[in-house]
Amino acid sequence: MKVSVIGGGAWGTTLAQLLNDNGNEVLIEDINQKFVDDINTLHIHPTFNIAISDEIKATSSLKEALDFSDIIVLCIPTKFVRSELTKINELITTKKLFINVSKGIEPDTSKRISELVYELIDKKNLKGYVVLSGPSHAEEVILRKVTSLVCASYEEDNALFVQNLFNNPKYLRTYRSDDVIGVEVGGAMKNAIAIVSGASTGLGLGENARAFLISRGIKEILAIALALGANMQTIYGLSGVGDLIVTASSMNSRNFKCGLAIGQGKSLEEAQGSINQVVEGIRAIEAGYEIGLKYNLDLPIFTIAHKVINKEVDISNAISLLLSRDLKSEKYW
Ligand SMILES: NC(=O)c1ccc[n+]([C@@H]2O[C@H](COP(=O)([O-])OP(=O)(O)OC[C@H]3O[C@@H](n4cnc5c(N)ncnc54)[C@H](O)[C@@H]3O)[C@@H](O)[C@H]2O)c1
Repeated sequence: MKVSVIGGGAWGTTLAQLLNDNGNEVLIEDINQKFVDDINTLHIHPTFNIAISDEIKATSSLKEALDFSDIIVLCIPTKFVRSELTKINELITTKKLFINVSKGIEPDTSKRISELVYELIDKKNLKGYVVLSGPSHAEEVILRKVTSLVCASYEEDNALFVQNLFNNPKYLRTYRSDDVIGVEVGGAMKNAIAIVSGASTGLGLGENARAFLISRGIKEILAIALALGANMQTIYGLSGVGDLIVTASSMNSRNFKCGLAIGQGKSLEEAQGSINQVVEGIRAIEAGYEIGLKYNLDLPIFTIAHKVINKEVDISNAISLLLSRDLKSEKYW
């Protein structure tokens, strides 16, 4: 099978190697010419500097990537997805299956990536949509360490197809689901809580505080997901609790590291700058906060995180604001 991967950074090139391990022909498209050269001439993963198969090819031409196959894996930071889908729709001439692996929700519109695909890709060009997500540090998958992902689609045949495409019996187990909303929201919102968890560590708080913020954070993610129409089971699965477990206390997580820097007193700009890669969780905080306002949800962690990143509250006061709230039953937010 031929597969085109749009975005050859940490995750895109790792998935390309997985697809190659599974016997597929892969062409990566990236706007970074150095990444394209690393893949084509040095045969190395451009962000991890690890050898990859010389069968994996790369291009900087979006048209070439789109002409290469009818299976498109979207793996660019979510803030570029709207403009990229607009370009893709102008260039494609055959129906494509879109597989999205980017984790995020568009602030301002609160749209998930599936909604952007259905809005921006003409029906005549759209074979289907599948989201693939779950607890997966690219750093581990590229070393073929055991990992599990879930793919969700409204079209069962497409979910089954993607489940088989990415499953590798040696190191990558895939599950399937029909809860597109749950998988998308879980994957996007866990990044927000990973930032909060990192900030608590940066502030010098202990593991008790981290567990407090993560478990109450799950409640807030669940409130957001249910308001948008997700199934509760999904949030307790791979693309919710699972992804939070892997992200919310790991130095492999750029969101956790960004939070850590904020907790240590760096400005948002300095914190993001020190990571030097996309930090999706900042936009997830914005989007989660806006969804909370729209659906009248009580989301104290998202609200205080939103105030911190917008410089309305100093990080040193954030925890006391959470602790001074009215006492509640644990059932309630
Ligand atoms: N890194 C991980 O472990 C991991 C795991 C699962 C999901 N994700 C998700 O995958 C997405 C990408 O993450 P990443 O870690 O690969 O980020 P990254 O910053 O390492 O790579 C993003 C790549 O996209 C390229 N790019 C940006 N705009 C482009 C465009 N318009 N056309 C083509 N290429 C473009 C960049 O040049 C870069 O190479 C994010 O949404 C992230 O949440 C990452």
